[in-house]
Amino acid sequence: MCGIIGCVGCGDGTLSTLLHGLSKLEYRGYDSAGVALVGDGSLRVAKKAGKLDALEAAVEERADLAGTVGIGHTRWSTHGPPTDDNAHPHQDCTKRVAVVHNGIIENYQSLRDELAESGHEFDSDTDTEVVPHLVEASLEAGRDPEAAFRDAVARLEGSFALACVVEGTEAVFVARNDSPLVLGIGDDATYLASDVPAFREFTDRVVYLEDGEFARLTADGWSVSDVDGTLREKTVDTVDWDPEDTGKSGYDHFMLKEIHEQPRALRQCLQGRVDELGGSVTLEELDDLDLERAHLVAAGTSYHAAVYGAQLLRDDGVPAQAFLSHEYATSPPPTEDATVIGVSQSGETADTLAATREAQRRGAETLAVTNTVGSTMARECDHVCYIRSGPEIGVAATKTFAGQQTALNLLTQHLSPGPVDRDLIAALRDLPSDVQAILDETDAEAVGETYLDSDAYFFIGRALNYPVAMEGALKMKEITYKHAEGFAAGELKHGTLALVTPDTPVIANVIGDGELARKTVGNVKEVEARDAPVVAVTDGQSDVERYANHVLEVPETHPRAAAILANIQLQLVAYHTAAKLGRSIDKPRNLAKSVTVE
Ligand code: AGP
Repeated sequence: MCGIIGCVGCGDGTLSTLLHGLSKLEYRGYDSAGVALVGDGSLRVAKKAGKLDALEAAVEERADLAGTVGIGHTRWSTHGPPTDDNAHPHQDCTKRVAVVHNGIIENYQSLRDELAESGHEFDSDTDTEVVPHLVEASLEAGRDPEAAFRDAVARLEGSFALACVVEGTEAVFVARNDSPLVLGIGDDATYLASDVPAFREFTDRVVYLEDGEFARLTADGWSVSDVDGTLREKTVDTVDWDPEDTGKSGYDHFMLKEIHEQPRALRQCLQGRVDELGGSVTLEELDDLDLERAHLVAAGTSYHAAVYGAQLLRDDGVPAQAFLSHEYATSPPPTEDATVIGVSQSGETADTLAATREAQRRGAETLAVTNTVGSTMARECDHVCYIRSGPEIGVAATKTFAGQQTALNLLTQHLSPGPVDRDLIAALRDLPSDVQAILDETDAEAVGETYLDSDAYFFIGRALNYPVAMEGALKMKEITYKHAEGFAAGELKHGTLALVTPDTPVIANVIGDGELARKTVGNVKEVEARDAPVVAVTDGQSDVERYANHVLEVPETHPRAAAILANIQLQLVAYHTAAKLGRSIDKPRNLAKSVTVE
């Protein structure tokens, strides 16, 4: 997934506005970056492999880089390695056209062959580069810049968010298909971006583009039209979070800031939805949702939330199963009466969109559980439930996982035919303060330090704590680059126990003192008997501490809430381990915040 920014009407601040926007979009991809500016009739481009600071250094040496209209791009490679030539913007043969792109042009090879046949020469390995050459061909045929851009887009198949500038024309031309684009409406300037944080410091007024829509931004204003050029009336929305939300607020990393934002994020998720006195949960947006069977589809961390949510529903008697979205889309199970729930913090994950679209093709009702207002999934699904975590910049999901778990608890209670679980409602009410108690006092950093040199980590848990174990392992993998695996605790002895040595710490979630806890303590004894170090994440109700080298405490609470609290400790273990290793915590290698390609 890549990040796009554009602006018109910023005058001398055009370049700085582009670079500011790119800094807010780096979480979407950061292996190269570039800008293009049009001014005084000239088009100028600067682009560099590497992170944004490489581009910033390059533009400092470019006194010619000025303009009143501009576009910028930060890349997560899909075609061609991160090099200067493969960085966006891409240009045509005459260097009069510059284009930035997010998505995948599926027919790029045939277009490239056709263009090469007619004499076009290419500088990059990317799919994107066909676009400026298509624009050039239409300009050569006498079409005006906007018409030439539309001609080019009409030839494309696949997913694209595109922004294009043409020398001598003080306008930005925009097209959206299957990749997010949003306009920012300022008093004197107009912005466009892949995501709102890119321009949020300049305006809180936004216009979300839909698939198949075009936009034209000039100093005189903005317009949106359809593929035939027919103007479209668009609603100007106002975002309700402040720019500070996208800064680090004094923390070393966005990830640590977002871990510490969880009490607020969960309060926001619960706000107005739980009536403790009346003993009810209200999700007004879902009043007309009739769910008899649930298929939850998701990827990555969200898949772990989906597994957790499916367990909640099953425990309440609702047939439910979680599926990896990329598998669901290609081999869907029978869904005669299933409601398909897409769980996705970004609401833009291509795999999960493919699954919900497949479900809709087959006539299933769909629900999006997402963090992103106006996201593609939020707009395409029949119903939406927002988790309200606020913007999450760190690539590793933290507060949005806890937000998803909390929202899925609310959904389960909302759907429950019987009375709500008052103990759970009380536990959810206390959740923000319970999370704060862990943040205020935890031994996670000491655990990270103790096992810093381990090459492998095993996370185990049962039932609701099994997806939490998987999530703990994913956090460890994606930010420390160390091997980690999450297991259903009962599975360890069926093979993986062979890997357990005195050098493989086993982090065990042991909550309560019931059968699940007792059996998990049994699994802990199995590894302890093989001299593996044990870290127990526990509420102290079982005797697991007798077999543990370290204890990470969670407050005693309802088992469903305890599985949310356990994950806070696991997030902190992964964070402190990665920080001690000096990893690029907010932008781990090879990853991006939202994967908008399948
Ligand atoms: C989470 O730490 C990862 N960055 C990744 O697995 C992520 O959860 C996955 O790509 C799904 O993203 P989504 O929630 O936006 O759909």
